[in-house]
Amino acid sequence: MGASLPSSPAVVVAFLFAIGFLCVFPDVAAAKAKHAGVTRHYKFDIRLQNVTRLCHTKSLVTVNGKFPGPRIIAREGDRLVVKVVNHVPNNISIHWHGIRQLQSGWFDGPSYITQCPIQTGQSFVYNFTIVGQRGTLFWHAHISWLRATVYGPLIILPKHNASYPFVKPYKEVPIIFGEWWNVDPEAVIKQALQTGAGPNVSDAYTINGLPGPLYNCSKKDTFRLKVKPGKTYLLRLINAALNDELFFSIANHSLTVVEADALYVKPFTTNVLVITPGQTTNVLLKTKPHDPNAAFFMLARPYFTGLGTFDNSTVAGILEYDNSTSALNKRPHFKPVLPALNATSFVMNFTRKFKSLATAKFPANVPQTVQKRFFFTVGLGSNPCPKNQTCQGPNNSSKFSASINNISFILPTTALLQAHFFGKSNGIYTTDFPSVPLRPFNYTGTPPNNTVVTNGTKAIVLPFNTSVEVVLQGTSILGAESHPLHLHGFNFYVVGQGFGNFNPNKDPANFNVVDPAERNTIGVPSGGWVAIRFLADNPGVWFMHCHFDVHLSWGLKMVWIVQDGKLPNQKLLPPPADLPKC
Ligand code: C2O
Repeated sequence: MGASLPSSPAVVVAFLFAIGFLCVFPDVAAAKAKHAGVTRHYKFDIRLQNVTRLCHTKSLVTVNGKFPGPRIIAREGDRLVVKVVNHVPNNISIHWHGIRQLQSGWFDGPSYITQCPIQTGQSFVYNFTIVGQRGTLFWHAHISWLRATVYGPLIILPKHNASYPFVKPYKEVPIIFGEWWNVDPEAVIKQALQTGAGPNVSDAYTINGLPGPLYNCSKKDTFRLKVKPGKTYLLRLINAALNDELFFSIANHSLTVVEADALYVKPFTTNVLVITPGQTTNVLLKTKPHDPNAAFFMLARPYFTGLGTFDNSTVAGILEYDNSTSALNKRPHFKPVLPALNATSFVMNFTRKFKSLATAKFPANVPQTVQKRFFFTVGLGSNPCPKNQTCQGPNNSSKFSASINNISFILPTTALLQAHFFGKSNGIYTTDFPSVPLRPFNYTGTPPNNTVVTNGTKAIVLPFNTSVEVVLQGTSILGAESHPLHLHGFNFYVVGQGFGNFNPNKDPANFNVVDPAERNTIGVPSGGWVAIRFLADNPGVWFMHCHFDVHLSWGLKMVWIVQDGKLPNQKLLPPPADLPKC
């Protein structure tokens, strides 16, 4: 992907059209905008493509041969129709991360949750309307670790007659973080699940698919953002990495955060950002008033507190002023300073800065009363080594696992949404997911000796319009670390967070129910907790899981089943005819 050039001609046209109208002819746009949304068609051919990075050439599973995948650009109110055709040996499905899918849960995408995967030679048409949402999201494969290469930006522009609640940017640039693996990520997770050990880590991080000059053999694979002086750029940051939260900074330039997870926030300025897998952050970059005749590194590297190994390398892109007179290599290059790899208090302070806009136009509809309360522990655990096998997980004698309330979720072999919709849950899932831990312990203190999890496919059923509060409590079992929890089908309000064990008698008094951040993914603090609230106003089966793929594979996931409401617009629509079969 180039600096700010969309990747396919159709997208180029859509993009230029959209940006042009927004920035140059707002009045024309407004005049033309009486109609509701339009339908935008995309075709995703899932096919293999040879791609070279770090001097390793690999055959990648891609969308349309692109790495990262193509941008989807739409407006609030539009209908998206995406035909996905699977030409690769792997099963696949695509998730539209952050799209609420009101009444259209069949098109949410997680394999074995809302659909069976699309098999080789088969196709499926995702068809949904974007209701009440605008901002930066992304799409990605939702099966095994295929999202390592199958991901791309999903940009929702405001309606024609609407504008941003901040200064109109001169240009908009998606910046999507990912990982590069010299080996096949599918082989990495397969081997890890077999031996029970932690998986191998990625070989590089990427910005728009490019690792940058700090890696071997990668100078030519560097993302360059060419800017003009005295302008405001909107950077749409997306963390699509599998397993790593990232710090990000641009040398000598501060950034103003204006949106997170496609929801406007009260603007705040920072030099360093933290972004977890599954999160998106829009920032305004104001360029220097005069050409500084210098180049500025933009760097990203991980935040990590766990016990395992991780990829501690750094991806670099370069911000350059395109009128600089001296030769590129003669200009001084500045590098930003990033926090320490384990800077947990920095991360907590940063996370606390996010607040909803909470205006009349963009209100914070925080549930003020809670009908159902849940307390979930999230963290690692173990499974015993099967007989006649050797394992390389905890104590070199078991397998790594991960759980919520000590339940490690087993994916069924058929999709849960069909089972629910047709009333055939027998033998597929049960509805007894525990609302509190069955065996309480000192969650963030010395971990218990017994770390063995229970395995099962369990759900929680919520009547339509239930107001829900969930306290997500991190554990120190096999190492405290942050877990980016993602909820499908909803946004939630982050009403409180803290270190140590949540105290139900003291902590709720400090909850922010006025203007808390509204998000779809939140990092459960390492050695701490976070409290979220949402209104269960979307019927369907909704996945909630850690957005680290390694923890997802180990079972750190569960599902909410939200029942239909009474009114016609409160019911899940019937399944599409081409819904894949298992
Ligand atoms: Cu972006 Cu279920 O995930």
